[in-house]
Parts: sequence; structure tokens; C-alpha cells
Amino acid sequence: MAEATTTRPRPPLPEGWKPTLLSLRLARKHPKISRAIIKWEMQRAPKATGPGDLSDLLAPGQSRPADFPSYYISNPVHHMNGLHWMHPSMGYRLERMAEDFPLGKREQIQWWVESQVLDRGVRPRRILEVGAGTGATAFVYAQVFPDAEVVGIDLSPSVLRWARKRAKELGIDNVSFYHMDSGDLSHYDDGSFDIVHESHLLHEMPSYQIDRTVREMVRVCKPGGFLGFFDWAIPENDRDWRQREGMVRNNVEPFMLDYSRADHPALLAELGCEEIVMVERHSQSASWRARKGNLG
Ligand SMILES: C[S@@+](CC[C@H](N)C(=O)[O-])C[C@H]1O[C@@H](n2cnc3c(N)ncnc32)[C@H](O)[C@@H]1O
Repeated sequence: MAEATTTRPRPPLPEGWKPTLLSLRLARKHPKISRAIIKWEMQRAPKATGPGDLSDLLAPGQSRPADFPSYYISNPVHHMNGLHWMHPSMGYRLERMAEDFPLGKREQIQWWVESQVLDRGVRPRRILEVGAGTGATAFVYAQVFPDAEVVGIDLSPSVLRWARKRAKELGIDNVSFYHMDSGDLSHYDDGSFDIVHESHLLHEMPSYQIDRTVREMVRVCKPGGFLGFFDWAIPENDRDWRQREGMVRNNVEPFMLDYSRADHPALLAELGCEEIVMVERHSQSASWRARKGNLG
């Protein structure tokens, strides 16, 4: 993959994922205590709730909420038993977790969007973020491109409601959040968006769903449009693999190895994408971008 160059100075990168390393150590040595702490925290954390039929989370013209794929509701992740993403405090928790992702902090995301999108002359009118979580990346796109319409989709009701609450608090009114599955964006026609982005979504899903998601991202992107990805780095040597396997065991990441074995640039090339460029790669994360071919 080619490497990106930019003259825009970037804010210093966090050295690593320190809070997670601490909690991983606790989880490895004392799994029961770690689970009990998470459960206790989640019981007390603020909740984001709404109608059980999720009617508040439908996009205009969407007749019913997305079906939940079985992997999403049957696999405990991140040391939380049961319906992890479905927990009513998940919005609150995810917003805090996401700030610790190397590409989770506002200034890092802003550097990325400005250096990789704005500085390259891309002027989008419609932007989609899949697996948008509590909106960290969608908010930056909405602020860097105030005339664009930004849509974030996710499957977690609590997360979506939290993202909406945060948008209101931040006074960002060109962003909307809806209940959809990234592997089935049939609500949107081919070529509906100028930019389609994912942040830390692909490693949370099994191989078949990664494949469906990337295909859908490319389908709903306009020919000549822009695709952006922030996610985990793909291991490159034995040491990386040992670290990744330890991380999977210790943080309960059921799909991380599927993700780590996938050849994302090859899939993008197969789908007719061009200019597939690695923007950065460091200890735990990587980001890359691509352009959908004009014939796509
Ligand atoms: C690790 S979080 C990342 C959230 C956000 N993009 C960020 O970087 O802060 C992964 C998100 O993907 C969502 N997710 C997982 N599978 C999904 C699917 N099939 N469709 C839509 N969202 C999904 C989860 O609900 C969760 O909000």
C-alpha cells in the first residue's frame, strides 16, 4: 500500500493505550474482580433509553429498525457478559472508551480529516459513518464541513441515543444518527454519499460481516468518492501477532483475529477502488483511505 504524505503538522500521538493496559492487566490476573467492577460501573452509569420498538431511531422513510445479526447479541466482548452493546449505559461507557483510542481524540481526528480530506480538495455534500458509536468522528466531519449532511449509523440503541444527546449539547445540527446494520445499507441507493468512513468498527465483527460491510461502504459511495478507515493495525511480524493474541485473550475480542487476518486493501482493490493509501500505522492502530473508481 502506498503511504500518505502531508505537510499539516499533527498533534503528538498518545504513546499507547494506557488505561486499557491497566484494565487488561487486572482482567488477566483477576477476571472475576474485573467483571464485577465493570458490572458495578455500568449499573451506576447514566443511561440513554427510549421506546422498546426503536421507533425513535428510524431514518426518514425507514419502516423498521435493523435486525440484530446474531454475532452482535450473542458474543460477550470487552469483559461484559450478556448484551454488551445493548446495555442502556453503553453510550456513556463507549464515549469514554473511545477517547482512549489512538484515533479517538478530537484533535487527532481533526488532523486526519483536514490533512486527508480537506487539504486534498474533497468538498463533500453527504457523508456516512458506519458503526458511528457516540459520534466522535462524525462530529469532526460535521464541523469541518458545516454545509454537508452527515449521517452516522449504528446498531446499539443506547449508543445512538447518547450520540444524539451529545450532538445537541455540542450544537451540531448537520448530523443525524440512525439504527442500521453496516452490512445492509439497503436504505441507501448506490452512490448516495461523497464520503463513507468507518472508525474502529471492522475489528468488532466476524469475517463475513467485515466483507459485507466493506462491500456496502463501497456500494453507497459515489464513483470517485472517498473512503476512510481508522482501525487496528494489521500485525506484521511474530511479535505483533503475540501481542495481538494476548490482547484478544485478555480483552475478550472475539473477532479481532478475523479482522487481523483480512487483507483489507485487496478487498478494496477487488471492489474497484483506487489510490489505496496507508495514512499511518503505529503500535495499535492504523488508518487508510481509498477512492472509489469512477467506473465503480
Ligand atoms: C468500538 S465501537 C467504535 C465506535 C466509534 N466509531 C468510535 O470510533 O468511537 C464499535 C461500534 O460498532 C457498532 N457495530 C458493531 N457491529 C455493527 C453493525 N453490524 N452495524 C452497525 N454498527 C455496528 C457497535 O455498536 C459500536 O458502537
